[in-house]
Amino acid sequence: MSELVDLRSDTVTRPTPAMREAMMAAPLGDDVLGDDPTVRLLEERFAALLRKEAACFVPSGAMANQTSIRAHTEPGDEIIAHEESHIVQYEGGGPAALSGCLVRFLHGARGQFTAEDVLGAIRARNDHFPVTKLVVVENTQNRGGGAVWPLAVLERISAASREKGLRLHLDGARLWNAHIASGVAMSRYGALFDTVACCFSKGLGAPVGSAVAGDVPTIARVRRFRKQFGGGMRQSGLLAAAALYAMDHHVTRLAEDHANARRLGEGLSAIPGLALCEDQRTHGVETNLVFFDIAAGVAFDAAALCERLLAKGVYMLPTRARRVRAVTHLDVSRAGIERAIGVVREVVAAG
Ligand SMILES: Cc1ncc(COP(=O)(O)O)c(C=O)c1O
Repeated sequence: MSELVDLRSDTVTRPTPAMREAMMAAPLGDDVLGDDPTVRLLEERFAALLRKEAACFVPSGAMANQTSIRAHTEPGDEIIAHEESHIVQYEGGGPAALSGCLVRFLHGARGQFTAEDVLGAIRARNDHFPVTKLVVVENTQNRGGGAVWPLAVLERISAASREKGLRLHLDGARLWNAHIASGVAMSRYGALFDTVACCFSKGLGAPVGSAVAGDVPTIARVRRFRKQFGGGMRQSGLLAAAALYAMDHHVTRLAEDHANARRLGEGLSAIPGLALCEDQRTHGVETNLVFFDIAAGVAFDAAALCERLLAKGVYMLPTRARRVRAVTHLDVSRAGIERAIGVVREVVAAG
């Protein structure tokens, strides 16, 4: 059988030989004691990229979000976020479990909302109510089809939230993809938020790691909660070296992943019985995530389709009963995409 085409997630990439060499060559220390030079360098470079005062390297995207949420809030506070956001759907109830916070859900296509939505969700100051403290935005928005937020919408959300004294956190696990797709500088996004979290282990291809950037007092709190949540790491310069390599070599190439995702979307849409999810039918495939739906007339659901695809060497992920996600990344070539389209066509036709 030909090689597996693994489209489950952009987290499945393995470090390239050059990245492994960079890891092996990294000077190391003990980061919990504050003297790993490679982690320090990564934190400085990441903070500078977002034009923030400081940054903290953490083990995962979930920890980047949850330490940031904890840093901005106190138990009993309320967070405003989209109902489809990662912090709500996929982080094990983290805001409630780790920060004692409620989440007030906003709604809207592509996982996006407006400044007016935020203003409408802010509670009056009254001893009966939770205190509205934080707005969380996800860019690109995973369950919104990898959607890129229009800069003008973010600017209005940021201005309105600041005017009301709210803090702002950006879940930028895939901010690199938004930056490449939109041409908007990372620092331009950074200016609109108090903390920005980005992942090195998704489209950028590093094996482990995320970082949070912000001002000095907020990052000091993030660092404290990283330790409290068990995320302090020792010779983590090994991992920081991979992240540095990824920032230097794997950002501009994300355009290839986006082109592959568009081709995949186009190929899948041409298969009778399949259609891109509504958001992507309307707005196109914007970055590296493709979501497609299986029509009611097709005999099998998403889980059964994915099982049959896997038997033929193509790995995708069911995300709803009749919805499948496919993600392009560093380890999938154009030839792999063409093979995946062919296999899906064959399996759907046989079904
Ligand atoms: C938007 C978003 N935020 C955060 C995360 C969490 O990252 P991790 O899996 O490293 O905890 C993910 C993971 O896919 C994500 O898609």
